[in-house]
Amino acid sequence: MTLEQAGVALRGARRVVVLTGAGVSAESGIPTFRDALTGLWSRFRAEDLATPEAFARDPALVWSWYRWRREHVLAATPNAAHRALVVIAGRVPEFTLITQNVDGLHERAGSPSVIELHGSIVRARCTGDGHPVTAWTEREPGPPPCPECGAPLRPDVVWFGESLPAASLSAAVVAAGHCDLFLSVGTSNLVEPAASLPWAAAARGATVLVINTSPEGQRSGPRVHNLIGAAATILPALVAAAFSDEA
Ligand code: OAD
Repeated sequence: MTLEQAGVALRGARRVVVLTGAGVSAESGIPTFRDALTGLWSRFRAEDLATPEAFARDPALVWSWYRWRREHVLAATPNAAHRALVVIAGRVPEFTLITQNVDGLHERAGSPSVIELHGSIVRARCTGDGHPVTAWTEREPGPPPCPECGAPLRPDVVWFGESLPAASLSAAVVAAGHCDLFLSVGTSNLVEPAASLPWAAAARGATVLVINTSPEGQRSGPRVHNLIGAAATILPALVAAAFSDEA
């Protein structure tokens, strides 16, 4: 499918669902989960830093890794891919944005009601009663206490071995099952259950556009089309192809 044809599909779509992964934030300079295990952190494995067991064993270590990543994310800015999705949301009758990213850049670009499947590193969560916490005072060693009850905070992310937030997952599944156009952007589509969402949409008759830089990210199947290139290039071009002739 050419970009022009994809633009026609987007212009005619009534219900659009977008699933994003690390590639959508590549042009913002956000390292992927694996790439974040570099430099200072290269001697650790994901299991040392991103599991409930790791946090129980060494909360200060886990907190400091997330604090380092949070500072990196807060210093970054949304890119043209994030912004193009805000434009699409304003142009189609129904729009759902689902992300596996924890960087909060969709929200900062202005996307409303993002379904965050893996949480957000910009937020913390009280280990006492589980409520989200958006402002706290850091201390050494971390983690800092909940401002309300004093229980230790934890990053508000889904760790390996934890379930995805049930409400977010079911909203994502419902949206994927009812859309007529599904965009999979910058994700390897390997980590379940998010990986199944595009194929569930295709099985229900939706057109699926896969936007990825790498040949390994491409997918094939009925109603599945690949647009090869960087999200920050392809998405603005798709918006232009779909809507540029509108007043
Ligand atoms: P991955 O790192 O698995 O895949 C990123 C995908 O983006 C790859 O297929 C790249 O080819 C592609 N890519 C890279 N740069 C791009 C660009 N500029 N434009 C478009 N595509 C680009 O990341 P995710 O699929 O997001 O889970 O990984 C999903 C989950 O696996 C993550 O949320 C994380 C990880 O383990 C948890 O933390 C629970």
